[in-house]
Amino acid sequence: MKILAIETSCDETAICLLEAVETAGGVDFRVLGNKTHTQIEHVEYGGVFPALAKREHIKNLPIILEEIMKNQDKPDYVCVTSGPGLEPALWTGIDFAKKLCTEWGVPVIPVNHMEGHILSVLVPTPQSLAEPRDSSPYKGEQSKFSFSNEIKFPALALLISGGHTELVLINSVGDYHIIGKTRDDAVGEAFDKVGRLLGLPYPGGPEISKLAESARVNNIDHRFDLPRPMLHTKDYDFSFSGLKTAVLYTVKDQTSHPTITEVFSLSDEVKQDIAREFENAVTDVLIKKTTKAVEEFGIKTLIIGGGVAANKHIIKSFKETLEKDFSETILLTPAREVTGDNALMIALAGYFKIKKDPDTVYDNIRAEGNLTL
Ligand code: KG4
Ligand code: ZN
Repeated sequence: MKILAIETSCDETAICLLEAVETAGGVDFRVLGNKTHTQIEHVEYGGVFPALAKREHIKNLPIILEEIMKNQDKPDYVCVTSGPGLEPALWTGIDFAKKLCTEWGVPVIPVNHMEGHILSVLVPTPQSLAEPRDSSPYKGEQSKFSFSNEIKFPALALLISGGHTELVLINSVGDYHIIGKTRDDAVGEAFDKVGRLLGLPYPGGPEISKLAESARVNNIDHRFDLPRPMLHTKDYDFSFSGLKTAVLYTVKDQTSHPTITEVFSLSDEVKQDIAREFENAVTDVLIKKTTKAVEEFGIKTLIIGGGVAANKHIIKSFKETLEKDFSETILLTPAREVTGDNALMIALAGYFKIKKDPDTVYDNIRAEGNLTL
């Protein structure tokens, strides 16, 4: 079975052509083509603009498709992200997918972007695939894989991205139950907003994590304390907007005039210290709430997915906590190449959906900005 997957939920335009070959022991995948184009046009605005994302997707989709489909036969299915995400951006992928399906006479399957992030942990690192390969990971003859990881149930996914922070209880692939989520900002959004307060380029997440790392390496003095919001509440919900506000006040206290532009007068040491304390605060809250759920539900596999799963400190802290207190629980995190938005994870989620419900016809697919699992 060949699946063409399209992802346009935010500022990545991504297409993947995945072949699934069923074997006696399971399924082998071969990535026939895979490309992710990150729209750099948003950087100068310090955030993602839906209308700009839409225009860029419309421009990029046919170019990427042509590259992917070179010397390839038409696929058996087209899978497309239908939500959650920015609706104008999602529609570009959906309209494009529908057009292709009419042209090729094949079914179109809507995929939930968050399920893609969950299943991204099944993809092996490109380093573990056969060498040599071209500059694009997961592409070419060498990119044949069966799953490198196995999910043992019940599993729990901590999904942390620019738009989401959720704890999802998983009884089997396709059976998801959200037990907690953020009441305001998502973790990635908080990283990006704090990045802006510190005068860092967009997206702030990777920049803050670099500053925090140098604070740790250089043992910068700890001068600021930030809150750990909702650390001791009984539910599995999160809140990060107060933490961002606390950073704002810390920054204002350090500047002679209480204006945001004054951040440029912050010393590197102060920025590093704030970044480290912010990253520590986020990590403490994520670990506390997640391990509480691991304990309560007897979780066998903990999955961490979404763009913020690229944060080394968060992942390392989870690893250490599980080794110490929950040594029976397996931790699965995505390979660096598939932490951010990509179409390979959408193809995988689409594959499972097709296998589960081979006869379902999805007509009238719509963009659903707030689609939940
Ligand atoms: O999943 P993703 O690529 O897009 C969404 O679906 O939102 O996540 C993007 C988010 C951004 O907020 C970005 O700042 C954050 O992931 N991010 C990080 C790191 N790398 C990316 N946050 C913290 N540390 C990182 N190393
Ligand atoms: Zn995402």
